[in-house]
Amino acid sequence: MAGKQWQAIDSHGARRLDELFKAEPDRLSRLSFEVAGIYFDWSKTHLDTELVETFAALSEKQGFAAAREALFAGGIVNPSEGQPAEHVAERGNGAPDAVDLASARRQRMRALIDAIEGGAFGDVTGVLHIGIGGSVLGPALLVDALGRRSVGYKVKFLSNIDGEAFDEAVGDLDPATTLVVAASKTFTTTETLANMGAALRWLAAAGVEDPHGRLIAVTARPEAAVEAGIDETRVLQFAPGVGGRYSLWSSVGVSAALALGWDMFEELLEGAAEMDRHFRFAEAAQNVPLVAAFADRLYARQGCQTRAVFAYDERLRLLPAYLQQLEMESNGKSVTADGKPFGQASAPVTWGGTGTDAQHAVFQLLHQGTVRVPAEFVAAAEADHSQADEHHRLLLLNAFAQGAALMHGRASDDPQRSYPGDRPSSTVLLERLDARSLGALIAFYEHRTFANAVLLGINPFDQFGVELGKQIARELGEGTDEATLDPSTRALMERAGV
Ligand code: F6P
Repeated sequence: MAGKQWQAIDSHGARRLDELFKAEPDRLSRLSFEVAGIYFDWSKTHLDTELVETFAALSEKQGFAAAREALFAGGIVNPSEGQPAEHVAERGNGAPDAVDLASARRQRMRALIDAIEGGAFGDVTGVLHIGIGGSVLGPALLVDALGRRSVGYKVKFLSNIDGEAFDEAVGDLDPATTLVVAASKTFTTTETLANMGAALRWLAAAGVEDPHGRLIAVTARPEAAVEAGIDETRVLQFAPGVGGRYSLWSSVGVSAALALGWDMFEELLEGAAEMDRHFRFAEAAQNVPLVAAFADRLYARQGCQTRAVFAYDERLRLLPAYLQQLEMESNGKSVTADGKPFGQASAPVTWGGTGTDAQHAVFQLLHQGTVRVPAEFVAAAEADHSQADEHHRLLLLNAFAQGAALMHGRASDDPQRSYPGDRPSSTVLLERLDARSLGALIAFYEHRTFANAVLLGINPFDQFGVELGKQIARELGEGTDEATLDPSTRALMERAGV
């Protein structure tokens, strides 16, 4: 067990960040890294040389190297479900069989895209992508980040069961020229199946002759899609070992590939593959996802219950929502992979927003509140909009100023105007936001999540915590025995008439 290392981490003397910079002149070079066109600066965290060494020893004790090898070799890293985690195979870095299968399925996806582009589905102008959680957050992030100037199909995303969401999603789509993509790993998810039914009715109501013929299913359970009336030529499969929140690289990315074009989709995979290679081969102290996980663990041990991510780039405004699922659904657990309570903080709550908007709304608490929130700033050195360069200069200056202000603080005789400083932050600076760097960025977050899980000894690839609520919703819908229902829930149901 790694008790000795955890103890050393907990009892490590706390030095202020600005003191750390003075004490360690080479601090910036040791805690900043460049991988796949992305600069990562973790020097404004409280990691010092000794802590990194202790964490590296801790990771050895926790069997990090073997766990990482198992991930890339297709070993069973999701023991509760008896599955490997094959998202790395989608970008060519997994077990040879899994890589071959992923590549064959990608070719099928490409063939379908070619057929759509070649007119096999008649005139197509739009795509309605239906899915929820991991079956939508990734593709939506990709299209919002990279598709703003794209000339590809107009892709709209629909996830919520709320009919308002449906109305909004189809608002500017023409049913006569829209294809529907229903993405669901299990093909049992209530929201997705209900929205798929609504989409078929929407097509039929507009006079589309064969609504099912305009439906593409993406799933790890093709038999369920066929049973739902979708012809197998329009069913794109992915492996059961690809977790929903890790699935954007697979056929789940079909809508993004339609919006962005095939070349961009491949560049995305290449960027992720580059980060895979870094994570797989870099030594602990230079391994960016692992070092980031060291800082995550340090602050979680010190009682930080949240971590905030601010995208200083409008194109990445969906990144915090994407990371919420990735990190909270993966590591929001309280028992180890073998079922033992691990008695320490697991994943913090991930939250965030966009800069500079967030500065005028929530940063007050970051600078002067009583809770400590490690903040992460994500930005791109180059802009890609039509406005004057000054916009981007101001945007970046603001991002960097926040990190500096949080770290240095500023004393004042007036307590209201005093900034304590010593508040940690990390900065991720892309040279430019393109498919390759976005692929590497997302893969960085995936591997950081995995590294956190290994340090904690938890399985990041299952999510049983979401099941109970689904089950109770079903039971309520089926008419539970009134006598067993608690008074609060019963009153709510009566009031709402459901
Ligand atoms: O309820 C949680 C969850 O299972 C996520 O893990 C998943 O990404 C989402 O629902 C959607 O599941 P599916 O792709 O099977 O429809």
